Amino acid sequence: MTKPSVLVTRRWPEAVEAQLASDYEATFNTSDKPLTPAEIRDAMKNFDAVLPTVTDTVSAEALDVKRPQAKILGNYGVGYSHICEKAARDLNLTVTNTPDVLSECTADIAMTLLLMAARRAGEGERELRAGAWTGWRPTHLVGTKVSGKTLGIIGFGRIGREMARRAHFGFGMDIVVQNRSKVAPDILAEYGARQVESVDDLLPLCDFISLHCPGGAENRHLIDGRRMDLMKPNAFLINTARGEVVNEHALIQALMFNTIGGAALDVFDGEPQISPDLLQCDNLVMLPHLGSATREAREQMGFRVLDNLDDFFHGRPPRDRVI
Ligand code: DGY
Repeated sequence: MTKPSVLVTRRWPEAVEAQLASDYEATFNTSDKPLTPAEIRDAMKNFDAVLPTVTDTVSAEALDVKRPQAKILGNYGVGYSHICEKAARDLNLTVTNTPDVLSECTADIAMTLLLMAARRAGEGERELRAGAWTGWRPTHLVGTKVSGKTLGIIGFGRIGREMARRAHFGFGMDIVVQNRSKVAPDILAEYGARQVESVDDLLPLCDFISLHCPGGAENRHLIDGRRMDLMKPNAFLINTARGEVVNEHALIQALMFNTIGGAALDVFDGEPQISPDLLQCDNLVMLPHLGSATREAREQMGFRVLDNLDDFFHGRPPRDRVI
């Protein structure tokens, strides 16, 4: 039996590439540069499976193919708002993602950001590296205590829950959650959490707000200027979800005019381009989309794609089918 052909759009961990090369007729993008929509369209015509990731804009334009040879997009990553759902459905494609295996590491980065923002770690490191540190003094880089404060979590899926676990059991934080659907009382109890109806209800209650909802059109600018005004004046906003969930223009205003305490971002609207105004905000911590960036998570994400392909090409429903 001939092996199905697959196109891998970026470099993946070595162990996963080796497995792909042994199980499939695999083509790797050795340049590791994101594909253009035209290149993705070509791949849809010439491979049995295309394996994109968050840096590939699998837009309606990229999926504008009459009869694609590829019937599956095995996405490397949990978020799939970079894939045009309507176009994928119109072509009857199967789309899979890689949940679970990155939840803990992504929550670790959210907690890292929360601590860095609260304790002004970015500012401190910049000062030190610039040779500008003049020594300890009682008023130097005074931050905000984290332990015992209230954390609001928007989106109480797998990553949101891991964040709640860290914050509640590690830092004694009170947890308030907002989620599209009602969360079962026993699950809330597991994290010492309570659920509120809406984002508007959550924001005024919290000292820290961490975003864990999906991106895409439905949550675009979920946190806008009006909602930032609902935050406590000293509260911090943490985003490890998707850049588009926060209106960056409004965030820049809030940070520049100190109407919130600060913010920390792992994701950006239009990344890897970063608004130059964000770079001017000292009360902002920024990381280059590191949520799942551990050897363990990145390997498991790859093997999860392999599991999904294996199911698909053996006629079984892939475990992580999202479309
Ligand atoms: C995802 O999986 O959606 C991340 O953003 C990349 O790890």
